[in-house]
Amino acid sequence: MKTPLVEFRRVRLGYGRHTVLSDLDLRLVQGDYVGLVGPNGAGKTTLLRALLGNLRALNGEILYPRGQRPRFGYVPQREGVDEIFPFSVEDVTLMGRYPRMGLCRRPNRSDREHALHCLERVGMAEHRHRTLRDLSGGQKQRVLMARALAGEPEVLLLDEPTTGMDLASEEDTLHLIGDLHEQGMTVVMVTHLLYLVANHAPTVGILNRGLTLGPVGQVLNDERLSALYGRPVKVLEVEGRRIVTGCPPTGGGCGGEATAC
Ligand SMILES: Nc1ncnc2c1ncn2[C@@H]1O[C@H](COP(=O)(O)OP(=O)(O)OP(=O)(O)O)[C@@H](O)[C@H]1O
Ligand SMILES: [Mg+2]
Repeated sequence: MKTPLVEFRRVRLGYGRHTVLSDLDLRLVQGDYVGLVGPNGAGKTTLLRALLGNLRALNGEILYPRGQRPRFGYVPQREGVDEIFPFSVEDVTLMGRYPRMGLCRRPNRSDREHALHCLERVGMAEHRHRTLRDLSGGQKQRVLMARALAGEPEVLLLDEPTTGMDLASEEDTLHLIGDLHEQGMTVVMVTHLLYLVANHAPTVGILNRGLTLGPVGQVLNDERLSALYGRPVKVLEVEGRRIVTGCPPTGGGCGGEATAC
């Protein structure tokens, strides 16, 4: 059995006296691809912050059984770069490289080449000299993905990585994440787009005060999702792909008013 990269033992997470999640048991192992879902405020970002080591457990233990934290690449839910400064796309991507470079070293040619390669992977190389703040929301999101990859992470933590992306960019991004996973990367992806999780993540975690984790086919089912969102939700299979539909709480079933999510 592989040594976990991160292990949670009966962890309670929250802020001050406010408990967000409790009794979390989790073993993240190299090669895992976990999709995390849950309503607004359920604690998805909180859990990612704890995995990153940016938030301490109120109770329980967060362990790094290999003796050190894995290298994380983090795509935050909201823009983390101060847009007052006119950072170029290339500069922002290189920021993800700093932990690899160490303090006080300026990026060298190979760092720049690596950053460019990461921008190519997300289809943003041609925009490398533009300032981040001039990009569209979906383009910014792709640059943040490149920044996360620039540090050659072992674990990718993605908080709503496709926010603002058009359909093609969303598919390309999921394809890229799938490729990285096939190459051995460990992935934890938070998203409200249930069909993304249903079709791409082999393991799913539902957050709702605690964590229910298991294979996607077992965890993402009508009963559980309906209970989670307080309204009828159906998981359907169409031409080999799963779609998830929700209905108004008083709709009395998934008729004509269903919305795909
Ligand atoms: N820095 C903070 N200080 C105090 N409370 C916080 C802080 N950050 C988050 N919370 C609270 O913790 C709870 C979980 O927040 P979190 O951001 O983890 O939710 P989320 O599942 O990521 O939601 P969303 O889907 O809206 O992104 C919320 O009730 C939120 O108000
Ligand atoms: Mg969040």
